[in-house]
Amino acid sequence: MGIKIAGTGMYVPEKILTNADLEKIVDTSDEWIQTRTGIKERHIADDNIPTSELAYHAALKALEDADVSADEIDLIIVASITTDKAFPSTSCILQSKLGASNAACFDLQAACSGLIYSLETAMYYIRGSKRYNKVLVLGAEKLSSITDWEDRSTCVLFGDGAAALVLERTDGDEECAIIASDLGADGNYGDILHLPAGGSAMPLTAENIGDRMQYLKMGGQEVFKLAVGAMVSSSNKVLEEAGVSRDEVKWLVPHQANYRILKAVASRLKIAEEKVYMNVDRYGNTSAASIGLCLDEMNRGNLVKSGDYVLLTAFGGGLTWGSMLLKWN
Ligand code: UT7
Repeated sequence: MGIKIAGTGMYVPEKILTNADLEKIVDTSDEWIQTRTGIKERHIADDNIPTSELAYHAALKALEDADVSADEIDLIIVASITTDKAFPSTSCILQSKLGASNAACFDLQAACSGLIYSLETAMYYIRGSKRYNKVLVLGAEKLSSITDWEDRSTCVLFGDGAAALVLERTDGDEECAIIASDLGADGNYGDILHLPAGGSAMPLTAENIGDRMQYLKMGGQEVFKLAVGAMVSSSNKVLEEAGVSRDEVKWLVPHQANYRILKAVASRLKIAEEKVYMNVDRYGNTSAASIGLCLDEMNRGNLVKSGDYVLLTAFGGGLTWGSMLLKWN
């Protein structure tokens, strides 16, 4: 029994926020943002558009690409740190929008590593039970809703978007899309990238809203250092487990945090920069959506063909990290 990626889809809101636009909001410059991050622009959803709506448009495209109808989906997993509400889950809200009435639904929270965690979870559902033949996996984020637009050290980094993949059970092993994977976490570093208020530890009050605790906080330099080390060692583990050499990798698709991180990871893995897929310049960091946005662009741009090895690697709040080797079908 194998698993294939039957279809991909993505959606980003129409509104684009350029670095020049940000220069009018905070004390920053296009030059600083591009030199430090490689980001030129990001897409931002209107205030009244929730994450599930971004997910819905991405899901429709993935279902169409897979030639699968919504009622054939057995399970929906939405990876997100910006769910519509604490509950019900965004995957349940999405199920209703899609009319995917036969699907079980849950959200998965592993920050920027969320899509890799979700793909691995979907794989075990498909392998573990005949009940799950077609699984819709999404990374969907409205990061603009937790961004502090007065904090120049973070507001220049993030964008909104959603990506969807349909994973499907197949008869032949030769079509197995997920060859090897590795997940990891270190909760001791939770406070270097987090959202302090709004949960049970710090319910929202007028006072902590005044202190801007409802917005994402990050120790950028610390995250940077840990990110590179974790993605490199996790990628190496996956290549070793699969018995695939770095030269055989067609594409390295890292979580699109910042082009300096992407280049550092590629360099330490000794994978040529031309093999690193990057779109951080156009979307910024979209957390759980970012790898999915890359995969959909690569799929629709015919940049991947059957048999290509594609190495995914991600790192994010938690801390969490993960890597996965795909053999494109
Ligand atoms: O998905 C994972 C999520 N997180 C990440 O991937 C983030 C990883 N970290 C990074 O990408 C980098 O640390 C940043 C891009 C966030 C920051 O780059 P940096 O080279 O680490 O800059 P820094 O924080 O050391 O700041 C350098 C200077 C500071 O000024 P002083 O103290 O040297 O005078 C900052 O105040 O740059 C200043 N600065 C800015 N200046 C203009 C910080 N943000 C800005 C800004 N525009 N937007």
